[in-house]
Amino acid sequence: MCGIIGYKGTENAPEVIFNGLKRLEYRGYDSWGMATANGSGLDIVKQEGELEPSKTTEESNIGIGHNRWATHGKVSKTNAHPHVSCDNRFAVVHNGIIENWKELKEELNGHEYVSGTDSEVIVHFIEEKTGTETVEEAIRDFLNSAKGSFAVGLLDSKEKNLFAFKRGSPLALGVDGEGIFFGSDIYAFSGYTNESLFLEDNEYVVIENGGFVLKDVSGKRIQRKTRKFEWKEEEIDQKEFDHHMIKEIKSIPRTIQKLRTSLHSEQRESLKELKNLIQEHEKVIFTASGTSYHASLLGVFLLQKAGVEAQTLIASEFENYERADENTLVVAVSQSGETKDVLDAIEHSKGKGATIASIVNVPHSSIERKSTVSVRVKAGQEICVAATKTFANQVALFLELARETGIDLKTSELAEKISETIEKNEGKAKKLAKELKDKKDIYIIGRGPAYPVAREIALKLKEIAYIHAEGMMGGELKHGTLALIEEGTPVISLIPENSSEIESNVKEVEARGANSIRIASSGDFEVPECTPEEFTFLATVIGFLLTYYTAKEKGLPVDKPRNLAKSVTVR
Ligand code: G6P
Repeated sequence: MCGIIGYKGTENAPEVIFNGLKRLEYRGYDSWGMATANGSGLDIVKQEGELEPSKTTEESNIGIGHNRWATHGKVSKTNAHPHVSCDNRFAVVHNGIIENWKELKEELNGHEYVSGTDSEVIVHFIEEKTGTETVEEAIRDFLNSAKGSFAVGLLDSKEKNLFAFKRGSPLALGVDGEGIFFGSDIYAFSGYTNESLFLEDNEYVVIENGGFVLKDVSGKRIQRKTRKFEWKEEEIDQKEFDHHMIKEIKSIPRTIQKLRTSLHSEQRESLKELKNLIQEHEKVIFTASGTSYHASLLGVFLLQKAGVEAQTLIASEFENYERADENTLVVAVSQSGETKDVLDAIEHSKGKGATIASIVNVPHSSIERKSTVSVRVKAGQEICVAATKTFANQVALFLELARETGIDLKTSELAEKISETIEKNEGKAKKLAKELKDKKDIYIIGRGPAYPVAREIALKLKEIAYIHAEGMMGGELKHGTLALIEEGTPVISLIPENSSEIESNVKEVEARGANSIRIASSGDFEVPECTPEEFTFLATVIGFLLTYYTAKEKGLPVDKPRNLAKSVTVR
């Protein structure tokens, strides 16, 4: 969380930075800010809330910017980045957490702190050390003294130079003929260049005189070539749709087709390699967070069917449960490829000798770069914080993987069936949303492959519609949750064809007066004739539509729900 960007070149820096911040907004939107250097020193702008183009700094050719997702210190203008040194020479932007900020602060002398953030210590550290050291020496000193995770951008207004350094948090460098950029990911500058390289931990970059130099913590120069990345950028301002979320839901049939084409062409080899790794290892453990975890539950279901002993673990609890060793394959599933909990699970498993594979959406992400084999879900850039099209593509990838291991799955008309489902059910979702918007609790039940979908729909209702929701296995109702079902409690049941077991669970809630909402071949929401695997997609899109229209009905900020961020780079 938090997005950082920096630019030095011939373009107008405030504009470049503003455009980058707009693209990085999904990383945090509590507050934002930028610093540029002009003739007389630093020019700083900070704002709480939404990005406003009219509020940028004066024209300049060098600057840094930040989108904040608050960790240390409340949401306020004072806590917004950039933070500035007492002498007004340096400004910093930071993504991550400086764990030993108190200790570092105690070691420094006579600085005035204005914010409640951990990040402010960085700028005072650099200021104090440059009393006797060069800026580069001060950065190396910081890398040796700081604990925690960080990607830091530093602007030196005196020398008109930029620096960036990192450990644990992502940092990419963008290069074009006219200037140099750095950012939390390639989106930061993808509107300007598609040539980039990625910094590894404990490296720093010096951006001066129209070029850059990459160095390690000992000051040794590192030679690393830039690479061209292919990444079709989504329009940041959606025009035909009210929100990105609905645009992204409606693109699911198309994005699934795109993934399938790639798995039969340029991704053919990596899919095969992943399958081979899965079959060669004694133990296969998936690890993921949030929506990606739900996709991995479906992945495990499908692979178990194919005879593979697989399991999945929530990344933040990985270390507490797993017993990885050299015979283990750990498969990380992540949209962003940057989730800190997942990265930590990878590092931990690597330490135990496990092999790492991954399934990601964002190309060249940290998780992809740490993997022996990585397959991309090819959903394109997703802007809404809640994952919809990327979830569908993750599941579609698992279907292809299961098919590759030899199981017979019929899903050839999947994209058409999803389109038909959206068309037939959107009106119904809009209507039901008016009723659901005032509910406090909603239950969603499913069995087999529909169970992870029930959990995913519940997660969406919580994050987007702010309604407490529980997605559960139908069979578990009678072991406790049934006590909460009263007259009118909404229960959404996911009922694939010929599934008598879930039907009896539906009867149980209906007998207690629940407001029973059926997603079935004939029900409140109707799906076309389909296999159980296809049903998971159809029930998912109905759940997404229902969530979207409920949130819209409540007038909520659908694409940017409160307190959340799309890429979570802290533990
Ligand atoms: C955050 C997002 C979720 C996402 C989760 C995992 O919590 O708000 O939508 O599912 O991170 O993200 P990843 O990028 O690893 O899939």
